[in-house]
Amino acid sequence: MPALRYGMVGGGPGAFIGDVHRMAAELDGGAALVAGAFSSDPSASRDKGAALGLAPDRVYGDYRAMAEAEVARSDPIDFVVVVTPNHLHFPVARTFLEAGVPVVCDKPMTTTVEDAETLCRLVAEGGPLFALTYNYTGYPMVDEARAIVRSGRLGRIRRIQLDYFQGWLATSLESTGHRQAGWRTDPERAGVAGALGDIGTHAHDLARYVTGLEVEEVAADLTTFVDGRRLEDDACVLVRWTGGARGTLTASQIAVGEENELVLRVYGTHGSIVWRHADAESLRVSTADGPAEILRRGAPYLDVETQGGSRLPPGHPEGFIEGFANVYRAVIEAIRGPDADGGETTRRFPTVWDGARGVHFLEKAVESARVGGWVDARYDPPGDPGA
Ligand SMILES: NC(=O)c1ccc[n+]([C@@H]2O[C@H](COP(=O)([O-])OP(=O)(O)OC[C@H]3O[C@@H](n4cnc5c(N)ncnc54)[C@H](O)[C@@H]3O)[C@@H](O)[C@H]2O)c1
Repeated sequence: MPALRYGMVGGGPGAFIGDVHRMAAELDGGAALVAGAFSSDPSASRDKGAALGLAPDRVYGDYRAMAEAEVARSDPIDFVVVVTPNHLHFPVARTFLEAGVPVVCDKPMTTTVEDAETLCRLVAEGGPLFALTYNYTGYPMVDEARAIVRSGRLGRIRRIQLDYFQGWLATSLESTGHRQAGWRTDPERAGVAGALGDIGTHAHDLARYVTGLEVEEVAADLTTFVDGRRLEDDACVLVRWTGGARGTLTASQIAVGEENELVLRVYGTHGSIVWRHADAESLRVSTADGPAEILRRGAPYLDVETQGGSRLPPGHPEGFIEGFANVYRAVIEAIRGPDADGGETTRRFPTVWDGARGVHFLEKAVESARVGGWVDARYDPPGDPGA
């Protein structure tokens, strides 16, 4: 089957996540980059396009011009990837959705719930596919955790502990001209939340993905430790989940010494699971009546869906790129539609509704920190077929 053609908005020279998306989208040969508006600076966009060997007429200085020109071609892009700073996700995604082009967008989906709901409606009302790269849902051992929790083996879920710790913003990196630090600490470009929006949103989605539970109420303590910074760099959110589970979600970017320490712990009446991003190929499962088990990616005893997320035998480490690539594999299969035998993909990818729930969670946490207490955070985004 020929590779799908895709374009990219963002991911220009010196950018972080655009190249990861490119590697992931192309890992299985299912997609090939053919177009891009890689930067708001047309010459930087041209440089990136040239470095990637793209045809010059498909490298744009403006994403609107790209959408217009691409849909007018006889060989248009089949989807677009949005990897700009957060404040541009909404206008870029809306432009392409309205032009009929499927969108893969990075998190957080938008900077306001209002914008998130506009995207939900566009998709719900017959619009093209929209996928959000909550990429931690692409790790096989996260799928194994999901299979175990949802099988009921842990019993009724009582506690969900989520930590995402980084240390790279422990000083005022933004005042040194560091680009990624600059926009992440600027509310105009990052949105209402700092650490919570940048990394806490992953933790929130991860818990939902594994447990199937939703947030009911939040009480947040948001702190800005670095002088002059305009968004919180440390967040601790008490969460009451549906079904009576309780927990905390902590996201910090001033945790000196931490790299990307994302840890999920789920405790039920009969057992628990622990998954650590730093040891992503393992999953600890404990029950009250026996020794803890350490399950390993690639092993034949895993759930059949988990096994489908592996590419290499156990012991040859897989990680960040492969997790992202699993999200892309699901997206590419969904865009292609049923195969010649009518078989449809059963692989999952985070949707526009997952994205809206993520943005709503951020707004409610910020509101709670402002009012200094518990806030009702129940939410069903418009058009969510799963609500
Ligand atoms: N899923 C993940 O694990 C993950 C990790 C990192 C970043 N992200 C998300 O990805 C996005 C990008 O983050 P990053 O760290 O790569 O940022 P970055 O600053 O490194 O890159 C952003 C890119 O967007 C380009 N850009 C800015 N305005 C543009 C415009 N008008 N048109 C076209 N391009 C434009 C910039 O030139 C730059 O190349 C953010 O939303 C971030 O939250 C997700």
